[in-house]
Amino acid sequence: MRDALGRRVDSVRATLTLRCNMNCVYCHREGEGRSGRELTCEEWVRVLRACARLGLRRVKFTGGEPTLREDLPRIIEGIRNRFRDVSLTTNGSLLRRRADELRESGLDRVNVSLDTLDPSLYRIITRSRYSPREILRGIEAAISVGLTPVKVNVVLFRETLEGLRELAEELTDECGCARLQLIEPMLDAEVGMQPATVREALRELSDLKPRLVRVRKFQNRSVYRLENGVTIEAIKPKSGEMCRACSRIRITHDGRFKGCILGRPRRLPVDSYRALLSALRRYIRERDDTMSGNRRRGVRGGRARGRRDLP
Ligand code: 5AD
Repeated sequence: MRDALGRRVDSVRATLTLRCNMNCVYCHREGEGRSGRELTCEEWVRVLRACARLGLRRVKFTGGEPTLREDLPRIIEGIRNRFRDVSLTTNGSLLRRRADELRESGLDRVNVSLDTLDPSLYRIITRSRYSPREILRGIEAAISVGLTPVKVNVVLFRETLEGLRELAEELTDECGCARLQLIEPMLDAEVGMQPATVREALRELSDLKPRLVRVRKFQNRSVYRLENGVTIEAIKPKSGEMCRACSRIRITHDGRFKGCILGRPRRLPVDSYRALLSALRRYIRERDDTMSGNRRRGVRGGRARGRRDLP
């Protein structure tokens, strides 16, 4: 399907829960403010089957922390073979325990958030007691059951730039995971850390000779390759290029449609498959969101308060 700006829509990001066992200082909670009732497993399956029926080919589960949902394998099982790519974004803390059942249920791959290998910085960022070593063990578990390619999400801050090289090297050596997604932070308030850019990160990695190898169709993301074989994907949420090539819709944890992380949520009739099909079809056709067009809304879902960093 195409939206009102002529963009092909082929991907859905599903927020399974806002609950999390970490509390990252910068977390945007997928732009979802107040917490409503979480959709049930059956409702998720219905919504996602409707998305597949309308031609969407990729689904990404997110949160909160999606692996906190005990029924996650049942949700994935319920959409088996309906999407070409089923992936999950996770903080990695529960992967060691859950990787196997997730793979069995039909999950294709995972993205794991790991901003730094420095234990004290990690604790400060995530406001949790987990250590980067535990997350690396989760990544290894994911790789060993074939949830690959594992991509590691790194939100960029000045304080962690210095450790990027270690991260790039550790991931190749330790577990053969060789993909980093460098993400510029989206912030609508101070978080006690200084945001950094992809450009600064690449400069930090200059000894490893980053070379631009392609530009992904999805959100016009630039892909670089380092000398040691590591692939780097650049995610710049504040850029117009990203919005111009954004093919993704979102379903909130409480079952509403959004055309953009900053978009206005619209109610979906989650208990009827037929009504879902027609509501989704209409919302996708009407989708005209871009981050700058939605800029009066803050990343936490309400109107932005205080300093704003969005386009
Ligand atoms: N800015 C940029 N990326 C963010 N993430 C979470 N909050 C922000 C933010 N404010 C990313 C994390 C996580 C993914 C779900 O979103 O890297 O992996």
